This record gives sequence, structure tokens and C-alpha cells, in this order.
Amino acid sequence: MTSTQFSQDHKIQFLFPIALASLLVLGAVRFCLDNLKSNQFHLLWQSGFSQIRFLRVPINVSADEVIEDGCNLFEGKWVWDNVSYPLYTEESCPYLVKQVTCQRNGRPDSFYQNWRWQPNGCKLPRYNALKMLEMLRDKRLMFVGDSLQRGMFESMVCLVQSAIPDGRKSLRRVPPRKIFTIEDFNATIEYYWAPFIIESISDHATNHTVLKRMVKLDSIEKHSKQWEGADILLFESYVWWMYKPFINATYGSPDNVREYNVTTAYRLALETWANWIESAINPRRQKVFFVTMSPTHLWDWEWKAGSDGNCFNETHPIEGSYWGTGSNLEIMGIVKEVTEKLQVSIRLLNITQLSEYRKDAHTSIFGERKGKLLTKEQRSDPKNFADCIHWCLPGVPDTWNEIFYAILLQDYRKH
Ligand SMILES: *[C@@H]1O[C@H](CO)[C@@H](O)[C@H](O)[C@H]1NC(C)=O
Ligand SMILES: *[C@@H]1O[C@H](CO)[C@@H](O)[C@H](O)[C@H]1NC(C)=O
Ligand SMILES: *[C@@H]1O[C@H](CO)[C@@H](O)[C@H](O)[C@H]1NC(C)=O
Ligand SMILES: *[C@@H]1O[C@H](CO)[C@@H](O)[C@H](O)[C@H]1NC(C)=O
Ligand SMILES: *[C@@H]1O[C@H](CO)[C@@H](O)[C@H](O)[C@H]1NC(C)=O
Ligand SMILES: *[C@@H]1O[C@H](CO)[C@@H](O)[C@H](O)[C@H]1NC(C)=O
Ligand SMILES: *[C@@H]1O[C@H](CO)[C@@H](O)[C@H](O)[C@H]1NC(C)=O
Ligand SMILES: *[C@@H]1O[C@H](CO)[C@@H](O)[C@H](O)[C@H]1NC(C)=O
Repeated sequence: MTSTQFSQDHKIQFLFPIALASLLVLGAVRFCLDNLKSNQFHLLWQSGFSQIRFLRVPINVSADEVIEDGCNLFEGKWVWDNVSYPLYTEESCPYLVKQVTCQRNGRPDSFYQNWRWQPNGCKLPRYNALKMLEMLRDKRLMFVGDSLQRGMFESMVCLVQSAIPDGRKSLRRVPPRKIFTIEDFNATIEYYWAPFIIESISDHATNHTVLKRMVKLDSIEKHSKQWEGADILLFESYVWWMYKPFINATYGSPDNVREYNVTTAYRLALETWANWIESAINPRRQKVFFVTMSPTHLWDWEWKAGSDGNCFNETHPIEGSYWGTGSNLEIMGIVKEVTEKLQVSIRLLNITQLSEYRKDAHTSIFGERKGKLLTKEQRSDPKNFADCIHWCLPGVPDTWNEIFYAILLQDYRKH
């Protein structure tokens, strides 16, 4: 390894947050607008003009929806499929935030919407919104994490919402939560902002910055008491940890702030989370998933030797094997160790590898920064302004949810 390679490698892990630092500040303006929008839906729902109730129906899992035990859903390839995909459109889903609606924001190509994930050993069942709703009946499904997890939440809402008549669904904000209610199914799909899972000074739903971070490695209760009782929980936390090699944190005494190596801090945080899982989760009634890191595509020399751009202008997935250096293997190892040691069985949605291929699917310059769409000047400077962390919707997070759906369907079949 040459010394320049080494210095680049060293730069890698902790570089992407330079972009992040300003990306992850959400504006107050956006908050107001969103609130207004969700109030409209809320009113609609309150008026309750439709009395349609869905009948409780058993779900038929047909033979082609059965997945053989042992098929690894996370190993496979992307195949072009502009017949079945996308599963919804920006226009058909009113719940998407501006940050992810790349078409509306001016992205010229839409190829990124037309790829289907094909596992090597089996087929993913075709997504069926009514079956998903039936599996959510009388349940509370909750996504916990940062803005990437919010993308997965929004994708899930869009995937089910088309099957629910107008006026029978609503999206409310109860910061740091967002709650999508499906009255006729007595179900909610929720999102909870907790970028480190454990407590931190970045826990305010809209006023937070990655520039100043302080995590409380042994504290989780302020968050966890709002997760208690949720029937299905999905956790995710990664990118906020990766701003610098060290992070200010407390452990034990709340007054004793000191710098921790990020990997050490991540392990301690995950152990705090694991202790909560073991003390609070009833595995007979609740399901817990952990979503592995969502990859970034910040340095295109990683897939195109000699370049010095980023994901901007990419229109096709990477072919052949690929793993970007932004996805830290040590952190991956910690996730593996901590989750394997748990007494309560939880499941991994190991979406990192499949998403690694998708350099084409980020919001790039067709997203937001500090709560506002990029200006023309900013767009003309993709090197500094392209967002290669978040994903357009419809897009890659839909696939994460299709896999999640496939797993729930197999559970249902076997129960
Ligand atoms: C499931 O199959 C049964 C018997 O074939 C049928 O009566 C029922 O309507 C099906 N349910 C659904 C949700 O398709
Ligand atoms: C779908 O993709 C094929 C192959 O690239 C292309 O020939 C066809 O025009 C596309 N259809 C639509 C509706 O975009
Ligand atoms: C709604 O679901 C909850 C469980 O989440 C259950 O306790 C309650 O009885 C359900 N209500 C109705 C009307 O079925
Ligand atoms: C955001 O938080 C900072 C620091 O906690 C505070 O000084 C500032 O007033 C807050 N801004 C808003 C709009 O609430
Ligand atoms: C942090 O700790 C890990 C493992 O203990 C080590 O591999 C890594 O080099 C450390 N990082 C720094 C910046 O000291
Ligand atoms: C930790 O906090 C101190 C005091 O605010 C600050 O000087 C230092 O840069 C912080 N360390 C990190 C890694 O952010
Ligand atoms: C982006 O792609 C377009 C169309 O292929 C091309 O005209 C343009 O020069 C590219 N821009 C950059 C900065 O690579
Ligand atoms: C996730 O999958 C990758 C390979 O795709 C593997 O290297 C990694 O160990 C897996 N992570 C966990 C936590 O099992």
C-alpha cells in the first residue's frame, strides 16, 4: 500500500461528515410546512366521511411467495425491470418529504427507479399492500434511527398507503415521532428520531447539528419508554457516529464528558441498547430488527479509478463485486457481535451490500440542504453540494422494505 493510498484510506472513514455537517441540519422552515401539510390530512381523517371497514381476512401465502429456508435474501444482483418498478410514484404518494422527491426536484433521468433486487437463491415475493396491512392489523410498527431510517419509514408508508381510501389514513407529527395511522386496521407505522439510538444532544427532532455531538453512552430511557410495547421495531444508527475519529461522550457519571474512540463508543452504545432489548422485549409478542449501515458514495475513484467526483451524474448501478470504504467493517463487526450475543433473538436486515451497488440512487443535487432545495449556483457545484448519503424515493429503501415484507410473510406462514 503506498502512502497516498494510506492517507486516502485514513481520510475515508471520517471524511463524509464534512458533507454531512451541513446536510443533517433540518430547517425550521421545513418543519412548519410539513406540519401544515400533515394537519390537512389529519382534518380529512377526523371528518371520517367514509365508514368502509376492511374485513379481517386470512392471508393466503401462495407457493411462489414461499422462500426456502437458507436462501440469503441479501446476496444477489440488481436486474433491469421497468415493467414492475417503481412500485409507486412521487405523485401517487403525498407523504414524501421534499428531500427525496428527485424527479420533482429536477433530476433528468429516472432509471434508478427501475431496478429489481434478485437474490441468488430465490425470488422475492411480489409486494402486496393489502397483505402488509393485514400483517400490521392491531399493531404498532416503529422505525428508530436517523434520516436514513426516516427514508425507510416514508417508503413503507408509500408502499401501503395506496391501498387505503382517502380520509382513512393520516400522518401526524409528534416530535420526535411521525405517526402514520391506519384506522381501519387499528395500526400505526411510526418513525422515531434518535440518530445515535441512545441519548445525545442531537435528539431534538429538527434543531440538531452533527458539528456538535455529545452522546450519553449509558442512557436510553428517554427514548426507549416511547418504544415500549411496539409490536415490530426496526433500529438503525451509523452515519452520525462517523464525523471524527473521536466523539465526546459520558458513561457512568453524567458530568464526566470525555473523548471516546468512535468504535469504542459505538460498542458501548449498542450494549446499552442490547440491555434494554433483553429487559423490555417479549419475544413471543414482539419482533426486533436491526438495519445495517446504509452505504455512501462520496468518492467516485472507488469505482472509477482516477476520478475525483462523487455520486453526481451516476445513472447505473455498479456491476461486479464492490464494497465502499465508507462502510466501516469494524462497526459492522460490532453489530454482528452484539446482536449475536443477545439472549432475545433479533434479526438483521443486512442491506449494506445490496445498497453498495447503487451509486446511481442518491439524491445528489436533487435534494435539500438545511431544509431547502439547492440553489442553481449550488447545483452547478456538485463536488461540494451533491448529497451522496440519502436516497431518492421511490428507490433503494423500497427494496429494504420488500425484503422486510418477505420476512414478515414467512413468519406469518409459519406461525
Ligand atoms: C384465500 O383463499 C381462500 C380459499 O381459496 C379464499 O376463500 C380467500 O378469499 C383467499 N383470501 C385472500 C385474502 O385472497
Ligand atoms: C423498458 O426498458 C426497455 C429496455 O431498455 C426499453 O426498450 C423500453 O422502452 C422501456 N420501457 C419503458 C416503458 O420505459
Ligand atoms: C387495537 O389494537 C390494540 C393492540 O395494539 C388492541 O389492544 C385493541 O384491542 C385493538 N382495538 C380494536 C378495536 O380492535
Ligand atoms: C437550536 O438549538 C440551539 C442550541 O441548543 C439554540 O441556541 C437555538 O436557539 C435553537 N434554535 C431554534 C430555532 O430553536
Ligand atoms: C479506535 O479503536 C479501534 C479498535 O479498538 C482501533 O482499531 C482504531 O484504530 C482506533 N481509532 C483511533 C482513531 O484511535
Ligand atoms: C469535545 O468537546 C471539547 C469541548 O467542547 C472540544 O474542544 C472537542 O473538540 C470535542 N471533541 C470532539 C471529538 O468533538
Ligand atoms: C453529467 O452528464 C451529462 C450527460 O451525460 C454531461 O453532459 C455532463 O457533462 C456531465 N457532467 C459532469 C460534471 O460530469
Ligand atoms: C452483512 O453482510 C456482509 C456481506 O454482505 C458481511 O460482511 C457482514 O458481516 C454482514 N453483517 C452482519 C452484521 O452480519
